[in-house]
Amino acid sequence: MTEYQTISRYDATAPAHRSGSIKLHGPAGFAGMRAAGRLAAEIMDALVPHVVPGVTTQELDDLVFKLMSDAGAHPATLGYRGYMKSSCTSINHVVCHGIPGPKPLKDGDIVNIDVTPVLNGWHGDTSRMYLVGDVPVKARRLVDVTYECLMLGLEQAKPGNMLGDISHAIQSHAERNRYSVVRDFCGHGLGQLFHDAPEVVHAGKPGTGPELRPGMFFTVEPMINIGKATCKVLEDGWTAVTRDRSLSAQFEHSIGITDTGCEIFTLSPKGWHKPPYLPAA
Ligand code: MF3
Ligand code: CO
Ligand code: CO
Repeated sequence: MTEYQTISRYDATAPAHRSGSIKLHGPAGFAGMRAAGRLAAEIMDALVPHVVPGVTTQELDDLVFKLMSDAGAHPATLGYRGYMKSSCTSINHVVCHGIPGPKPLKDGDIVNIDVTPVLNGWHGDTSRMYLVGDVPVKARRLVDVTYECLMLGLEQAKPGNMLGDISHAIQSHAERNRYSVVRDFCGHGLGQLFHDAPEVVHAGKPGTGPELRPGMFFTVEPMINIGKATCKVLEDGWTAVTRDRSLSAQFEHSIGITDTGCEIFTLSPKGWHKPPYLPAA
């Protein structure tokens, strides 16, 4: 996700239909995003058997790099603003942008893995939560509600609705479960660029923001905390954590607005939408 810009392009005084800076893509864009998004989702699926106690996040990152390379893609994150990994691995109270390294996952952890392969110039950006071994119900409930937040947001992603309708659906569901929505990072337009307009905030009022139009491509990627919403970034300049060290979860899809709703480019081919990721019987 991108850092939330405090000077918003969508300020309250601007006209309600200001979607002019948001690109509208045609069939070639949909085809490009479909392929990049599918690869991203296949990588998420392929990681499932590897996310176990004892594996290091660097080993997972190495696998992500190999899967992208083998598919003729490259990681958008590698070299992005000085970030030097192929994925982000955000464990427990890490909100986002956790840097893969020598730390092994341990039983009971929850971890978000976020990947963005660039395939033929198109960016497929997605993340899922993974449960490491036996995870307490308190954490599993956070993961479930966070997934529901994403999907309730996506139900609002259709022409005629406003971007704020998505934000509102996410915030309402999080808060009725007594969780908080992270405000410091947001979703983003994407396509041939990794981060583009619009900024997709995950809390807001219905009927606000730009109007959704067919051909808009963006991510929705809510970060939901058990405790307070406030975050801080560690000394490494990337790792964002909850200030109160409460658990945080996130799911991300890349979507395109269609004539009737949205196409989710990053859906799991295996149907592994949220954990537990059980192999087909
Ligand atoms: N994939 C992240 C997103 O959802 C961005 C990660 S940027 C990085 O937008 F540099 F931290 F990798
Ligand atoms: Co993103
Ligand atoms: Co991402």
